[in-house]
Amino acid sequence: MTTSITPPAMAKSDSKGNSSHKLVIVSNRLPVVLKQLPDQQWTVEPGSGGLVTALAPVLRDRGGTWVGWPGTSDRDVQNTNEVLRKQHEGFGYSLEPVQLNQSEIENYYKGFSNETLWPLFHDLIDHCQFKPEYWEAYQQVNRKFAEAVKKVISKDDFIWIHDYHLIGTISYLREMGVHNKVGFFLHIPFPSTDIFTRLPWRKQLLESLLEYDLVGFQSARDRRNFITSVRTLVDKPKIEGKGQLINMIRDSGSVRVGVFPISIDYNEFANLARSQEIESQAWYLHEHFPEQKIILGVDRLDYTKGIPERLHAYKEVLTKFPELRGKVCLVQVVVPSRRDIHKYDDLKIEIDRLVSEINGAFSYAGWLPIQYMYQSLSRSDLVAYYRSAEVALVTPLKDGMNLVAKEYCASNIEGTGVLILSEFAGTVAQMKVGAILVNPHDTVALAEAIVMALEMDQKERRSRMRKLRRNVRGYDIFWWVDSFMKSAFSKDLGNFPLTADYAPLAEGS
Ligand code: UDP
Ligand code: G6P
Repeated sequence: MTTSITPPAMAKSDSKGNSSHKLVIVSNRLPVVLKQLPDQQWTVEPGSGGLVTALAPVLRDRGGTWVGWPGTSDRDVQNTNEVLRKQHEGFGYSLEPVQLNQSEIENYYKGFSNETLWPLFHDLIDHCQFKPEYWEAYQQVNRKFAEAVKKVISKDDFIWIHDYHLIGTISYLREMGVHNKVGFFLHIPFPSTDIFTRLPWRKQLLESLLEYDLVGFQSARDRRNFITSVRTLVDKPKIEGKGQLINMIRDSGSVRVGVFPISIDYNEFANLARSQEIESQAWYLHEHFPEQKIILGVDRLDYTKGIPERLHAYKEVLTKFPELRGKVCLVQVVVPSRRDIHKYDDLKIEIDRLVSEINGAFSYAGWLPIQYMYQSLSRSDLVAYYRSAEVALVTPLKDGMNLVAKEYCASNIEGTGVLILSEFAGTVAQMKVGAILVNPHDTVALAEAIVMALEMDQKERRSRMRKLRRNVRGYDIFWWVDSFMKSAFSKDLGNFPLTADYAPLAEGS
């Protein structure tokens, strides 16, 4: 059972009163998560992860609908819909919560999504569970999402489905007679055929992907892997076109397949970083770390992010370069994520152990080598760290894109920060000019990269950061959404009405 949460001011027509199509975004999570406080009251918090950061500014004030799970079990539904409605007033789009029961949370969300597809698509086959009951639940919940979408759409609306949790939703929509245009974007990598073939339900997933009007990937590598898997496991489609968008033509129809590297709202980060509030916070941070250079890591708690590998490299730096002790501090923010999945719980224990081992071995009165925060930071705290850090360590073992890398550059308004970037982050295709590239499995090379970044002269820092910032500014989230929507629906964001209170942010430098 779902109940739409629509702000009172929501209109389905533009300022001239012309009726218009709306954009319906569908993702496993809504942009907010419901949380119950110790006093049993409900509250909403922003969702974590790159998908929410990227999409929230896209829909903001455009009068569309976002269909997704509010993060609670359906037994709480009575209390929570009202809380969602109240807290979401003024966001400028409506929410359509899809409630999951406990068994769906276990088998679809934690199970098939996060113990099967997530590790498989990140090449971590040893972490995968292939359980038929997970697959059953995945199909059941994908059908549930299709029902929720069908309920909120009109015939001219555009449906845009996101990420690995909901690949199969299109098949149920078509089965239910929905003929609207439907696009799909995969936020995580698509693995090589060798790895993808291990999945017992590989063909069903590919067949579903081929039913969309447009399938978008983060990088050319992901799209190449997808096409090879289709050729190996389904049939040999004819490929037309080249570049960002190609057409795969099969006897049963055609699908457009594109490369759309996701991004951030550059101006939002740059303008916030320039504000008086962040200026003061950044000043305070430097006071707090006197005479020290800040090396920053910001990651969700996830085994794909390479946090232990990074800690080993930092230990290597402190061991081999004792003169750096007292002159640097690694600020590592770990955002709690996917609690109760056993690989995540194990990772937390490993990180805690490594941090205390390093702090135990190297700290002395007045200096702590690692400041470790296991919490979600507010946007302003995060931007204050981005602005202040001399070095950012973005070293995932594999990542669809990695928005932290882009946020760091957008917020680094002094232009003197150094980005150390994994060769295996999707971001690398756009940011290899400017970043120091590393193999995160190579502890020695990563340690050397940290030292190189710390010792880099101002001129080189500025020149590298200028290139990085120019890239993020030129290819921001609005470029991303426009290029996807033009390819999928022959529309751009301008075709969707803004509500009256929308004020575009000033252009940043
Ligand atoms: N983030 C956040 N709070 C924090 C730390 C990070 O909201 O305390 C956000 C960060 O701004 C970024 C997202 O989490 O937008 C992480 O996205 P990324 O693409 O780097 O990785 P993901 O978590 O999606 O795998
Ligand atoms: C990644 C995924 C998103 C997901 C996010 C947070 O960014 O691509 O789809 O929402 O991680 O993970 P969670 O399991 O908390 O939704």
